[in-house]
Amino acid sequence: MFAEVNASAQMIKTSVPVRPEGQQDVLALACEPIPTVRVAFIGLGMRGPGAVEAMTYIPGVEIVALCDVLEANTKKVNEMLVKRGFPKAKEFYGDTTVWRKVTALKDVDLIYVATDWLHHATIGVQAMKDGKHVAIEVPSATSLDEIWALINTSEQTRKHCMMLENCVYDFFELTTLNMVQQGLLGEVFHGEGAYIHCLQSYWPKYWNNWRLDFNRKHRGDVYPTHGLGPICQAMNIHRGDKLNYLVSMDTRPISNPAYIKDKTGEDAKDFRNGEQTMTMIYTEKQKSILIEHNIASPRPYSRMYQLTGTKGFANKYPVEGLAIDKKDIGGDVAPKSIEDFSAHNFMPEKVKEDLMNKYKNPIAIDIEDLAKEVGGHGGMDFILNYRLIHCLQKGLPLDMDVYDLAEWCCLIPLSEISLDNNSMPVEIPDFTRGGWNKLNGLTFAK
Ligand SMILES: NC(=O)c1ccc[n+]([C@@H]2O[C@H](COP(=O)([O-])OP(=O)(O)OC[C@H]3O[C@@H](n4cnc5c(N)ncnc54)[C@H](O)[C@@H]3O)[C@@H](O)[C@H]2O)c1
Repeated sequence: MFAEVNASAQMIKTSVPVRPEGQQDVLALACEPIPTVRVAFIGLGMRGPGAVEAMTYIPGVEIVALCDVLEANTKKVNEMLVKRGFPKAKEFYGDTTVWRKVTALKDVDLIYVATDWLHHATIGVQAMKDGKHVAIEVPSATSLDEIWALINTSEQTRKHCMMLENCVYDFFELTTLNMVQQGLLGEVFHGEGAYIHCLQSYWPKYWNNWRLDFNRKHRGDVYPTHGLGPICQAMNIHRGDKLNYLVSMDTRPISNPAYIKDKTGEDAKDFRNGEQTMTMIYTEKQKSILIEHNIASPRPYSRMYQLTGTKGFANKYPVEGLAIDKKDIGGDVAPKSIEDFSAHNFMPEKVKEDLMNKYKNPIAIDIEDLAKEVGGHGGMDFILNYRLIHCLQKGLPLDMDVYDLAEWCCLIPLSEISLDNNSMPVEIPDFTRGGWNKLNGLTFAK
């Protein structure tokens, strides 16, 4: 006997707000060039100051304002500016609403947000309404309402709204993306990414305990963008393919409630975020993606980053390797003198090195040395900031648009819905509202 299937109940759908008449998408949005970009920073905790410092190495940037709830944080960053030979920026501090004075400033082009997650979207929306471009740390939005508000405001104001996803700029990711774009891996039909990083030693350092509190309140992959971003770029998401739906599964929470018990004596029975969360995504072009989240267990750091293509395979964690048949690699990189190898194993290290050099991403070549010198997660943070400023200065479309932000952040609310409904599939909205096939592949503007 077969159970009766109700097809309409097979997928949970969330509502997509109708695009107001006259409003257009911001695909490939290009704005007036800004030769000197005047930046104001909001949020100067563990993350923000490094971004301010990175900006001091980029020509054509003025740091106009620094804002944090805490006076000491703004003062410390201003001292760094002076040490680096820059004039002091205006300081704003005191409470969680003082940032409104910053987005309202007349002499600012870009608002750079590195606060806790709960303030990201509110500040982002207001910044654009106040006539500024905005760049927001990861994840820039944690609910569908916030995501749609950022999209609608960017479309209405024609201002850039970019998520500061740095992991797409790591050297292995940039180079393998270039390999994919040159066809070296064939068609990439499966990708895996993750955020696996035990945060227990960081919990006491966050302002107001915001991050542990968010994990306590929310089940699901609450930090998906480092894992998902590079995979979506390799798969040209909303540039020829589209995320269609997801399914999530998690384990019960273990180490984080135990941490709370240990530190406070409290039984955190209401702790929602699972120890291990897995989300599978299916795309319009019938490709698959697996994203994992684990910030609690004793494991080596990993963003996984795996690309599986019809001709080859790239893997970053725990071992960086490439697997491609020798016959599919140019004779300059794998000459006859090197013994045959196949995609059954990672290629010899020397061949990998030569291939990585040959396929270096053009956007990283000129700035690689400076990026490694300035640092920030090995240099990727510098490339992120450099590319943002470069594109604003030249009036080019940014490398990542508000739809990337939406697609990479939507796992937060949508994985939670799937988990709360016994892993039911949840539709991923077309955040471009009909434009996902207009652009032909991902390009980084020059
Ligand atoms: N891309 C990356 O690799 C990376 C790495 C670390 C953190 N982050 C992101 O950076 C952001 C900040 O993280 P963090 O580790 O610095 O946290 P943090 O708690 O150390 O810093 C947050 C800061 O924001 C300030 N703040 C909070 N609300 C504010 C408001 N309304 N106005 C002004 N200031 C406000 C706090 O005073 C605090 O100094 C988060 O979104 C986090 O996910 C990204």
